[in-house]
Amino acid sequence: MKKKLLAVMLTAAMAVTTLAGCGSGAAESASSDSSSTAAADSGSSSSGGGKRVAVAMPTQSSERWINDGANMKTQLEEKGYTVDLQYAEDDVQAQVSQIENMIAAGADCLVIASIDSDALVNVEAQAKEAGIPIIAYDRLLMNTDAVSYYATFDNKGVGTKIGEYIVQHCGATKDDPKTIELFMGSPDDNNAHMLYAGLMEQIQPLLDDGSLICKSGQTDFESNNTLRWDQQTAMKRCEDILTRYYADEDLDICACAYDGLSYGCMSALEGAGYTEANWPLITGQDAELMATKHIISGKQTMSIYKDTRLLASKCVTMVQAVLEGATPEINDTEQYDNGKIVVPSYLCEPVAVDKDNYKEVIIGGGYYTEEQLAN
Ligand code: BGC
Repeated sequence: MKKKLLAVMLTAAMAVTTLAGCGSGAAESASSDSSSTAAADSGSSSSGGGKRVAVAMPTQSSERWINDGANMKTQLEEKGYTVDLQYAEDDVQAQVSQIENMIAAGADCLVIASIDSDALVNVEAQAKEAGIPIIAYDRLLMNTDAVSYYATFDNKGVGTKIGEYIVQHCGATKDDPKTIELFMGSPDDNNAHMLYAGLMEQIQPLLDDGSLICKSGQTDFESNNTLRWDQQTAMKRCEDILTRYYADEDLDICACAYDGLSYGCMSALEGAGYTEANWPLITGQDAELMATKHIISGKQTMSIYKDTRLLASKCVTMVQAVLEGATPEINDTEQYDNGKIVVPSYLCEPVAVDKDNYKEVIIGGGYYTEEQLAN
């Protein structure tokens, strides 16, 4: 009853918002091309029984989230759920509206990969009030007790692996120091903070003993983060750093927290005249198709492979747990304190990939085919 009443109220509220012309472009385009489906209506005999699972994803501007959405949709539909998949194109308010819509449309469970999780606190409270369970997908939902489970990768582990790779491969010593600049993730994404912590644990000793030199001095997260993980922002910051601090000396290492940031830095480096002869070691995250091609060509040195099929499957077990009383697999009950509760989590393992192991890990794992990587 409560759920129905709230749904009616939200529908009315949404109608007012739309009439007032407040709907953002991103929200409109995201919902008009959203992949709302009704697979379960076609009479699947699987366990889901047509229950509605709404999946809120951050953006289609990055390949990984497109894959995440597609994997979630397929796997949920296979279980007989009806899926309402929506992307908010990194527009925080659009995501809030989409989740309101999902509640109004009668979602039985919400799966949320947030843009700015703090902005979702109220809508999460509405869901809780309406008895709709929430699963956090990849990014922790902060400051809410409305979230039941969290499916993600080991986010500090991502930073650790990037850091270990740099330490092992950059050849920096006290006698032969290397220069490094950091391009970290979005400050409103808990993952970005955890990655940074993992990375710094590895490279701080080398910064301290002078083997690594950050000429800009921007080693603190406040100065090296990138709002919304935006490629252009990283490019501009890299251009600025190259102009101001690297006029007389090459930059040897671009420690980028995500493939999109690597692309931004590559443009800046090309613009500043870097060539194969002085091209830096460049890290990334997600092993996007383009990044993997860059790894093969030598333009990007490494990335972090995250099998989004595995993440989706773990998340689906959590959906089943909250909707059908099943028991999901959990492997962390300590690390993910969101400020209100410690969220029971499953952490998938990230894997560092470079030119030496991409065939085995990425092609062998069936993530991309040799043909996809050849074109
Ligand atoms: C994800 C990363 C991704 C980044 C940018 C993070 O929350 O964990 O895999 O690279 O967002 O989209």
